[in-house]
Amino acid sequence: QRRVRVPHLHRMKERGERWAMLTAYDMYTAEIFDEAGIPVLLVGDSAGNNVYGFETTVPVTVDHLVPLARAVASATRHAMVVGDLPFGSYQASPQQALATATRFMKEGLCHAVKLEGGAPMVPEVELLVRAGIPVMGHIGFTPQSEHVLGGYKVQGRGDDARRLVEDGLALQAAGCFAVVVEMVPASVAAELTAALDIPVIGIGAGPHCDAQVLVWQDMAGLRGGRAPRFVKKFADLRGELLRAAQDYATEVGDGSFPAPEHSFES
Ligand code: KIV
Ligand code: NA
Repeated sequence: QRRVRVPHLHRMKERGERWAMLTAYDMYTAEIFDEAGIPVLLVGDSAGNNVYGFETTVPVTVDHLVPLARAVASATRHAMVVGDLPFGSYQASPQQALATATRFMKEGLCHAVKLEGGAPMVPEVELLVRAGIPVMGHIGFTPQSEHVLGGYKVQGRGDDARRLVEDGLALQAAGCFAVVVEMVPASVAAELTAALDIPVIGIGAGPHCDAQVLVWQDMAGLRGGRAPRFVKKFADLRGELLRAAQDYATEVGDGSFPAPEHSFES
């Protein structure tokens, strides 16, 4: 199997085949998710809250993400690797967006980029696509705007539903190859998915999308505390890792590790 490319994703939509996307920020997770057959890996600016320990994605910079993207791309053979353009690195102008996306493609070895925003981002999307960079859109709840949106809130309710579909159509017309839709009512995501020819990737957007995305530490139960409603934990990595670290410390303390088989003779 070769590298997943834009036409593969479009064929899956035509055939009605659903697929799963995950975030990845380092070599081993990228290797594992690639082996699992996850077709698209996102080096998300969610690294802000899941790698760097920030409260939001707002402080994340291009310099934070590009080395992570390079590691993920280097560790995969099949997955399409999408680099997430951070807050403030693309909204000033199409030229700024192109300069930033170029860094993700050249230094981050990405195969595509993602940016947040609907119809207002059309000029940026158009220039990137013209330059040969596949662009994934992101509408609904857009975490980089959380201070304007007033926190983590469901978007696209009531009259906003029509604007959400219009944003999706505008991004598609501008050349986006796919669009993420975050935290909108399932019925609105269903409408968007039916309206667009390009894949719609949901997160907190119900079961009717063409694909789903989760932050991998949420999916695998690594993160502590209360997870959002849209998260399902498919493992308890936090519990496993906690137990391993405790067992290791115990065995070092009582002298049972390292054992003779872990030691060298003279
Ligand atoms: O940064 C991220 O992880 C994302 C996904 C949740 C879509 O943007
Ligand atoms: Na993001």
